[in-house]
Amino acid sequence: MEIKKNFSLKNYNTFGIEIYADFFVSVSSVNEIKEALIFQKNNNLPLLILGGGSNILFTQPFKGLVLHINLLGKEILKENTIENTLLIKVSSGENWHSFVQWCVEKDYGGLENLSLIPGKVGACPIQNIGAYGVEVKGAIHSVEAIDIETATQISFLNKTCDFGYRNSIFKTQLKDKVIITAVNFNLSSKNHLLKISYGDITNQLQNKKKPTIQEISNAVIAIRKSKLPDYTILGNAGSFFKNPIISIEEFELLKLIFPAIVNYPTKVGIKLAAGWLIENSGWKGKSIGKVAVHNQQSLVLVNLGNAQGIDVLNLSKAIQKDVYTKFKLVLETEVNIL
Ligand code: EPU
Repeated sequence: MEIKKNFSLKNYNTFGIEIYADFFVSVSSVNEIKEALIFQKNNNLPLLILGGGSNILFTQPFKGLVLHINLLGKEILKENTIENTLLIKVSSGENWHSFVQWCVEKDYGGLENLSLIPGKVGACPIQNIGAYGVEVKGAIHSVEAIDIETATQISFLNKTCDFGYRNSIFKTQLKDKVIITAVNFNLSSKNHLLKISYGDITNQLQNKKKPTIQEISNAVIAIRKSKLPDYTILGNAGSFFKNPIISIEEFELLKLIFPAIVNYPTKVGIKLAAGWLIENSGWKGKSIGKVAVHNQQSLVLVNLGNAQGIDVLNLSKAIQKDVYTKFKLVLETEVNIL
């Protein structure tokens, strides 16, 4: 384990922002995490846990220790041939999409709708990643972590993770308090429960009633490739904002003024498509200097090349201001801004 000084994070954030950390270490085991924490405490350094860097915007140098998660491995812990389920332990540094592809190839069901999401396994519970009608909380059995304060190992069963839309206990009460080392998934080995009612998927599958999970995964990959920019070409962090959720009463009023407003009823209120709000505030495809609003999906802000974090932040603020002026709605960021 080597602690590097004055380290460029350009290749460690999918926005491709050139920014430096005072210290950087890549850890491959629980013991290395513990060693890194000793260094951090002895030197009284701020700590940043970094996975795939696909949900972060750096707006300033990081004056502390970046701990890059590189714990690898997958293990089948249990197989239930009566219920056709599997319990699989996956280390937090595994690439998310590679893991999903591995499941799809083995015909393990439950994650196929979440194909091609960038990032690492350890980040999936933090913001309860979701796409095309599925949220990862439905497949998570438990999350294993290290308590930063005491350097001891702890485990959280699904129901103690407080999962919500793009939210969990790891983003609220436990923010900066734990380091996720592994996630245990409950998957199906047969008779998969397919989720194919999301409009884009139904269309892509041409209304096929019983697709295989490989076909669903392929459909998701095709949709994502058509709408979302590839960060290796155009730096971005996926959806920059969350879709706002408002009360039915607020929604009824908005709908009177904007009858075409895209919305989805949920258990906790009406979810609006932030992409629609941004597009209808005139921002789709627009750029300011080296940053732009993606021309296929307005929720995504892109680095046109050599942008700084502050450029992206300023663009996001201009969008928030216009959306507020037009719809009286506050857009919250989904991306972590540092
Ligand atoms: N829309 C527009 N203009 C736009 C973008 C979207 O009008 O520029 C409208 C369209 O009518 C579309 C609707 O918004 O039908 C929904 O768009 P989409 O299906 O692309 O989904 P989304 O709500 O914009 C969410 C997630 C995405 C996820 C997709 C698919 C959030 C913040 N984003 O986007 O997640 O891939 O659903 O399930 O919930 C991410 O989190 O990084 C991400 C990409």
